[in-house]
Amino acid sequence: EISNSKIINIPGNEDVRGALSFVQKDILPFDVKRVYYIYNIPENVTRGGHAHIEQNEFLIALKGSFNVEICDVHGNKKLFTLNKPNEGLLIPKMIWRELTNFKADSICLVLASNIYIEEDYIRDYDGFMNFK
Ligand code: TYD
Repeated sequence: EISNSKIINIPGNEDVRGALSFVQKDILPFDVKRVYYIYNIPENVTRGGHAHIEQNEFLIALKGSFNVEICDVHGNKKLFTLNKPNEGLLIPKMIWRELTNFKADSICLVLASNIYIEEDYIRDYDGFMNFK
């Protein structure tokens, strides 16, 4: 449900030596089975452009800034800007997402509830809106 998509603050520590953030299972509604990251992203590209049938994800802008536009099968939309390493966006299953407006040298870290399974992807928007 798109109402379950939200920004989650990531706890951590900051002192004169710098900042440290930690994501452990108490702040996420799923167990992490995979970590991947997107980087070397040219300006003006769109990443994402898909939904997952079962997988939940948690996205963090480790560096830089980008927008995440999400949409559910009813056409409800939300727009988030991720630009802080100490917060992340929870995207539940069955939510279409597009990542846009990447600032130069941005890095998007993704914590995922499952390993990579292409059959879990819906990559066609019309197919997503008509998914039964
Ligand atoms: P893609 O789904 O286009 O990336 P994004 O949605 O983040 O923009 O993935 C690019 C390619 O990488 C695609 O062929 C699938 C492959 N891939 C894997 O093999 N394993 C993974 O964990 C991920 C995320 C993608």
